[in-house]
Amino acid sequence: MTLQDDIMKTAEIIGKSNRVVIFTGAGISTESEIPDFRSPGGLWSKYDPDVYANYFLFLKNPSPFWTMHHEVVDMLLIAKPNPAHYSIFELEKMGKLKAIITQNVDMLHQRAGSGTVNDVPIYELHGAFGELYCLKCNKKYNHDEIKDLLTEKEKIVPYCECGGVIKPTTILFGEQLPSKILSGAINACNNCDCFLMIGSSLLVTPANQMPYFAKKKGAKIIFINKEDTFMNNIADFFLKGKVGEILPKIISYLK
Ligand code: APR
Repeated sequence: MTLQDDIMKTAEIIGKSNRVVIFTGAGISTESEIPDFRSPGGLWSKYDPDVYANYFLFLKNPSPFWTMHHEVVDMLLIAKPNPAHYSIFELEKMGKLKAIITQNVDMLHQRAGSGTVNDVPIYELHGAFGELYCLKCNKKYNHDEIKDLLTEKEKIVPYCECGGVIKPTTILFGEQLPSKILSGAINACNNCDCFLMIGSSLLVTPANQMPYFAKKKGAKIIFINKEDTFMNNIADFFLKGKVGEILPKIISYLK
């Protein structure tokens, strides 16, 4: 089967589905100029995750994480959704999409309009860069407020007025995922008839368990990714290529 055959077949499957769940990874946002993590030149080639994204280290010393955060936050703020994000919003408008499960913290699904038409839940398994809170008193902050908290003395790590350290909801390695979000995502996978994985290496648990939940319940499993993943064997279709090119083509056959 050629890629074009797989695109047509995928469109046929989605055309017959009414309970599609979409699972996204960093690969959907690289065409919005946000590097992914593990491709050459990805974020982890610049910032060692054991130093910059380890939860236990953050609790001891939040500076490395905040140094990375300040360096990438402007890129996240100016990033725009790309055709792949908008294609997912199209699926929502068609009434076919039951949930979005994302590992991304860039909030580009929301910026593309997802969640505004049919209240499709967006399960942000790894949090969101723009939502921050105090680890001590749990006071909520947004990224605009953070700048006001930085002082000559405290240039990197923002502290709450109660003295606690502020952290984005971004999940670091070793940190528990929010149980309500995780159970909502698992429930969506258990009730879908088509599971579309888009742009993930599927290397991080428990996020990478989602396709298994859907598979177990008999859903069609479709992967769209630039590279093979180690879980390709569970996919009914693996469409190899750029998401921003493949997904709009699939949607165009549904209209
Ligand atoms: N089109 C299709 N696939 C792409 C594109 C693209 N334009 N760009 C990159 N990819 C693919 C890469 O080939 C890679 O397989 O997307 C995948 C991205 O994999 P990772 O960089 O590992 O990102 P992700 O799977 O989202 O990582 C999961 O790991 O470090 C943690 O918390 C972090 O949420 C992240 C998690």
